[in-house]
Amino acid sequence: MSRDFLPIVYSCLVFAILSPFSAESALTVGFYSTTCPSAETTVRSAITTALNGENGPAASLIRLHFHDCFVRGCDASVLLNASPTNPSPENNPVFNMRGLDLVDAAKTAVEAICPGVVSCADILAFAARDAFNLLVPGGSLYDVPAGRRDGNVSSFLEAVANLPAPTLNLTQLETTFAAKGFSLKELITLSGAHSIGQAHCSSFQSRLYPYDSTQIDPTFAQMLQGKCPQNATVNGVVTQDFVTSDSLDVQYYSNILNNKVLLFSDWALRTDPIAVTTIVSYSTDNLLNILWRPDFIKAMQKLGQLDVLTGTQGQIRSTCGAVNP
Ligand code: HEM
Ligand SMILES: *[C@@H]1O[C@H](CO)[C@@H](O)[C@H](O)[C@H]1NC(C)=O
Ligand SMILES: *[C@@H]1O[C@H](CO)[C@@H](O)[C@H](O)[C@H]1NC(C)=O
Ligand SMILES: *[C@@H]1O[C@H](CO)[C@@H](O)[C@H](O)[C@H]1NC(C)=O
Repeated sequence: MSRDFLPIVYSCLVFAILSPFSAESALTVGFYSTTCPSAETTVRSAITTALNGENGPAASLIRLHFHDCFVRGCDASVLLNASPTNPSPENNPVFNMRGLDLVDAAKTAVEAICPGVVSCADILAFAARDAFNLLVPGGSLYDVPAGRRDGNVSSFLEAVANLPAPTLNLTQLETTFAAKGFSLKELITLSGAHSIGQAHCSSFQSRLYPYDSTQIDPTFAQMLQGKCPQNATVNGVVTQDFVTSDSLDVQYYSNILNNKVLLFSDWALRTDPIAVTTIVSYSTDNLLNILWRPDFIKAMQKLGQLDVLTGTQGQIRSTCGAVNP
């Protein structure tokens, strides 16, 4: 390479490093400002209306967005229903996903004003942000870069291969998140989403009979045994955070330190001293919101850019549950 090119190469490098979003991301804030200016507010009001005054279930939107992005990128693959040509999509009953009705309500509202313009993947990213806003104390609307396109592939096997199971230990969780470019710190940050929503007994039942008192607080374990009896015929549902159930706050981190978290994977975060340092510091951030909250927003924005389809790739689905014919 000639010496004359080096300054250009270096300035490109500097630009790449300083640029807020990674080079492969073509998403932009306000992507629909000319093609569908009220897209984001329409999603927000449709979600609020569909929740009908009960914000707790909004938690499901944050989880749907996470599952979407970790499997084949944020392409709305998690929203595709089983069909004769694809009998086993990403959204398998083992994951206990909910909230698809909320996404459908938002899509219907957006299609009514701008048909064929706004992707289901973007609607889900906006909806996850709106769920954050509804559940975080005081509310907070972060920017959601948009321009995602919808994919047409959805596979249960890919979901199993890419999503973390609640039985994983910390090493395995780190590997799963590192495969998507997330650090141990970001794993801990994002896990704060377990401060809201629910889990089915099937997701943690194996920890209860018998329970290990070094991993679960005995009073907490007995309470969970009451909610998830052995050999029960129904798969019960339990609140993830018993202290501040519908509040997206840092209580989750205190719950970890108190052995009062449902999933083995939640408890496993405290098995590494470096992780514990982060957990302790987040657990103190309940007044100022200067540690966990900005980290969580940044991590959600990063999550939302994973392997996205843009430009003319993919399609804009007309309903989120099926690819366009
Ligand atoms: C660290 C690895 C993770 C594992 C092993 C995991 C696993 C699970 C499991 C098993 C449930 C309960 C599902 C049920 O039985 O109903 C759950 C719920 C949930 N997860 Fe995670 N998760 C992880 C990370 C995340 C991340 C990164 C987010 C989002 C940023 C997230 C958001 C949620 C939310 C909001 C719920 C409640 C959903 C609802 O109420 O419907 N999780 N997770
Ligand atoms: C985590 O699980 C894997 C697979 O079972 C095992 O090889 C590894 O030793 C475990 N790590 C820790 C820290 O327990
Ligand atoms: C649950 O089922 C197992 C075997 O299926 C049995 O050994 C156990 O006694 C049962 N426990 C209760 C509480 O019914
Ligand atoms: C899926 O989309 C790709 C391009 O986005 C296209 O080439 C392919 O034919 C589509 N497959 C189906 C089954 O729609």
